[in-house]
Amino acid sequence: MSKDAATPRMEKIVSLCKRRGFIFQSSEIYGGLNGFWDYGPLGAELKRNLRDTWWKAMMRDRDDIVGLDASIIMHPAVWKASGHVDTFSDPMSDCLLTKARFRSDQIEPQSGVAHWYTGARSKTTGHSPNRDFAVLLRKGETIERVRKLAREFYAEGSIDKGTGEWVNLELLGERTEEVNNSTRFNPSNGALLTEPRPFNLMLKTHTGPIESDDNVAYLRPETAQAIFVQFKNVWDSSRVRMPFGIGQIGKAFRNEITPRNYIFRSREFEQMELEFFIKPDEAIRLLHGAVAAWHEGADLSEPRPNWGWEMWHRYWVEQRTKYYAGIGLGADVLDYHWQKPEELAHYARATVDILFKFPFGTEELEGIAARGNFDLTQHQKHSGKPLEVFDEELKAASLNLTDEQKRAFIDEAFADRKNPDTQREEVAEFWEKLFAGNYLPHVIEPSAGLDRLALAILAQAFDEETVTDEKGKSETRTVLRFHPRVAPIKCAIFPLLKNRPELVAKAREVVALLRPHMNIFYDEAGAIGRRYRRQDEAGTPFGITVDFDTLGENGPEKKDTVTLRHRDSMQQERMAISELKDWLLEKIS
Ligand code: GAP
Repeated sequence: MSKDAATPRMEKIVSLCKRRGFIFQSSEIYGGLNGFWDYGPLGAELKRNLRDTWWKAMMRDRDDIVGLDASIIMHPAVWKASGHVDTFSDPMSDCLLTKARFRSDQIEPQSGVAHWYTGARSKTTGHSPNRDFAVLLRKGETIERVRKLAREFYAEGSIDKGTGEWVNLELLGERTEEVNNSTRFNPSNGALLTEPRPFNLMLKTHTGPIESDDNVAYLRPETAQAIFVQFKNVWDSSRVRMPFGIGQIGKAFRNEITPRNYIFRSREFEQMELEFFIKPDEAIRLLHGAVAAWHEGADLSEPRPNWGWEMWHRYWVEQRTKYYAGIGLGADVLDYHWQKPEELAHYARATVDILFKFPFGTEELEGIAARGNFDLTQHQKHSGKPLEVFDEELKAASLNLTDEQKRAFIDEAFADRKNPDTQREEVAEFWEKLFAGNYLPHVIEPSAGLDRLALAILAQAFDEETVTDEKGKSETRTVLRFHPRVAPIKCAIFPLLKNRPELVAKAREVVALLRPHMNIFYDEAGAIGRRYRRQDEAGTPFGITVDFDTLGENGPEKKDTVTLRHRDSMQQERMAISELKDWLLEKIS
């Protein structure tokens, strides 16, 4: 889709979300707060349903994953150990003229002729600010504009703009330079930007009554670290066995330099993360002789004991793809980006981003990383607490090995070492631990953003179509075609007329029948067609109308049946009230 076609679509989605109570700007009556959003009644239901589908797919439907609900603020040492204090930053540049702030790696490259200056001098006061500055002259722009911006820059802070004195500044040391695809200039005005510098994305706070460096704390930038930090407690208390996972859904905070694209990149958001712990490949070799090798078409349907990290990683990509298909995001709207070696984080062995075709471009929905044992190693080192697990089966298998066989394992591992500085003693120490049944598990991490998923679901569901009524009148029908599983309201119930007490009473009976089992909506206001349209915009998949047939006024055969309307096709059918509950439950579960 072209950018121009995408923008109105995104605007329409944003407008519908506000109009129907899905998403509001945070603190809107005070002018809003950039990067923060509130979910209204329908948005809260949508998010809850999405959370539930994730929790069910990852936890309830399996017996190898357990849940965690950890605090948002943790000991600051956690973030030192994880590397977030030192390296969780984005490059930032400021416009030297307007002070507007940019994420340096997201600046659109520009070409033109850069006009550089070394300073300026006031012809009347002699004031002479000296500092390098440049403005990019782009196609269609005039040199006068460039010089005006340069004068504004040199006037700033030194000459009272109100006096008009700045207009008389004489620019000094002008020189020009041809520039191609440069990210050093502000895309909106062409003014020079500062050199990129790292900006840590963690939001800081203080715990306790005194604000000092000693009680700095951070709002978690990801839910994952709590899982690593509590890994040993879960292992010791839950009777889980390797391989197994710990999942968590919760808020995360990042002081994004440029929050953008609605709820796609915000400063407060929610993550749904799984850390799936597996045995190191060396343990698999010891137990099973070899690690199953991945190849195109490999059977990933059922985990096997001889899987190493690569098969587990592929397995989780497939599982997550199935999950998305189950809530209406099929292969036609997803894509995959397998990170190249130079893109990988230093600890990652492989990372794949699951991408969604958003109206503003194809962007990341979820990342699935094979993180090795980086995090547990870091937390073991920084906390001084052992986080290794003991694996009885591994110890038993090692008891059958001769000393020569053990030495062969060590020799081979030493010969295959990735880092030439690794000493044989280190390799031997790792294997000796393994022979005793001890290791730090490795991890596969499918990490999804709930708000991004909500946006993907809304973008995928949004549709407009022209419909013509019986009288030949055409109108645009706006409809959110949510999968019934995630739709905020599952079913709307309407009495045909609100001034007929028998219809209202019967409709209320249907409400009472269905309300304990699903989120329903009762609406008796306005013409039935308008009520249908309102529910189309809310994405309600089914509408039930109680009419005179229901009351048996047109014969006994239709008594206690209702009109069931399907949102997508607008087709209607009659269904017995007694069948409604089971029929609907089957559709939404
Ligand atoms: N523990 C790994 C981790 O946090 P990430 O790629 O930084 O990895 C995972 O984040 C997911 O969280 C992303 O794929 C995205 O869906 C979501 N996410 C990250 N930053 C976000 C933001 N600023 N706003 C909304 N969602 C965000």
